[in-house]
Amino acid sequence: MNVPSDRIIIFDTTLRDGEQCPGATLNVDEKLAIARQLARLGVDVIEAGFAYASPGDFEAVERIAQTVGTEDGPVICSLARAISADIKAAAEALKPAKHARIHTFISTSDIHLEYQLKKSRSQVLAIAEEMVAYAKSFVDDVEFSPMDAARSDPQFLYQVLERAIAVGAKTINIPDTVGYLTPSEFGDMIRGIRENVPNVDQAIISVHGHNDLGLAVACFLEAVKNGARQLECTINGIGERAGNAALEELVMALHVRRRYFNPFLGRPATSETPLTQINTQEIYKTSRLVSNLTGMLVQPNKAIVGANAFAHESGIHQDGMLKNKQTYEIMDAQSIGLTSNQIILGKHSGRNAFRTRLKELGFDLSDHELNKAFLRFKELADKKKEVTDWDLESIANDEVQRVPELFKLEMVQVSCGDHAHPTATVSLRTPEGDELIDAATGTGPVDAVYKAINRLINVPNQLIEFSVQSVTAGIDAIGEVTIRLKYGDRIFSGHSANTDIIVASAQAYINALNRLYTALQPAENATDDIEVVSTQGQV
Ligand code: KIV
Ligand code: ZN
Repeated sequence: MNVPSDRIIIFDTTLRDGEQCPGATLNVDEKLAIARQLARLGVDVIEAGFAYASPGDFEAVERIAQTVGTEDGPVICSLARAISADIKAAAEALKPAKHARIHTFISTSDIHLEYQLKKSRSQVLAIAEEMVAYAKSFVDDVEFSPMDAARSDPQFLYQVLERAIAVGAKTINIPDTVGYLTPSEFGDMIRGIRENVPNVDQAIISVHGHNDLGLAVACFLEAVKNGARQLECTINGIGERAGNAALEELVMALHVRRRYFNPFLGRPATSETPLTQINTQEIYKTSRLVSNLTGMLVQPNKAIVGANAFAHESGIHQDGMLKNKQTYEIMDAQSIGLTSNQIILGKHSGRNAFRTRLKELGFDLSDHELNKAFLRFKELADKKKEVTDWDLESIANDEVQRVPELFKLEMVQVSCGDHAHPTATVSLRTPEGDELIDAATGTGPVDAVYKAINRLINVPNQLIEFSVQSVTAGIDAIGEVTIRLKYGDRIFSGHSANTDIIVASAQAYINALNRLYTALQPAENATDDIEVVSTQGQV
């Protein structure tokens, strides 16, 4: 990859480290949809997965390599432990990519060596050297990470990095695996590497970090000031535990404060040339796609992409904004693609106009998906006077979400009110094609719907999160329901959008149950405790 030394490389690991957070599991089609959007966003590298981890991971890396790894597309990367079988699987899955990278890693901290790897420093040194060379026999673009670098003995770290570079690592990635360092310590660590690794100029210094103390983004920015040129991050900051450094925060910090950062990259302070090649106007859409497909909600006060990030509540602020936006705003909502709702389509719009607008919004649906989405658009246009881009995005995101339709919601009907017992009747179609119908009462209409579904599909689970958000303002807005449920120690998410939030709630629950059901299918006898109660209500 040829990137000028005064530009920052954005390495997105949403599909690898991001997907490692509980409940964020994505299927292959969903990963592909996110990868396509990451390419539109303009990331330099997509870490598409960990090919050796499972057949599903392998397939995801391979399909992303095939479809997104084009000549002018991003580099496609697979993670691999410093083990030959991992590296071989990564190389195999990456074959279709025009620009492929193998990212191999081994721990270097004494605590990991002693308790996890049970290896000596000299063994780790030899493995790192051998495995980087092995990865190099498949692809030219090899990245090496000393895991838990932040807690490693610096002298040992320098030694490992020197050997990895000597055998061909083009990128050396420095992880703070446990999110421990403060920003100035992180900056010092990068400076130490620049000053003490003799062949460091032959590699790009990358950083990777977790947000356990809420410092990941600040650490990375300090690393940039000290010579890091690649940032490993995820959309909405999702990832293990408290997550990874958030892509949107890093990119916008470097964009808004480019005059501050320019000199650290050897540029004149006043240069307006962007520091990354990210198309910032795609940020908001990417954030919504990732949130919808993973079921990981974005907190309202989250920087850049939170619902309140550009909202001004206090009278003084509103007064200032009306007089001059810059009084209280350091960036424009439009710069992240949060445009005012354009009303483009209505109930008389045809399929062509619909397809064209979706294409403009970056959705490339198959004919089947388009037909389904178009029907939903027509229904929506009948109910809602103004159909906006956000409504269209919400419908398209729902179609992109490929939850296997094992159980299909046929009908939901509720009766509720202040002097009534909330009651729901639900009808489902089973994977075998039977129609089931049952009813239940509950503490509210959603509770009644979920109880009715539970009577039909007897899946022992615990609902741990339920959220409704409106897509646009107004009483006729589409409501998006996101839920997470727990089965044993695994978490499954479901998402759906509808102008009727009870229907969206039912559909989101069915989506999550379908994911759960699918995840359990391959293991023998895994579905023993999932019993479809098809006797009492069968039609
Ligand atoms: O956090 C970490 O150390 C990682 C490595 C595999 C880079 O994710
Ligand atoms: Zn990580």
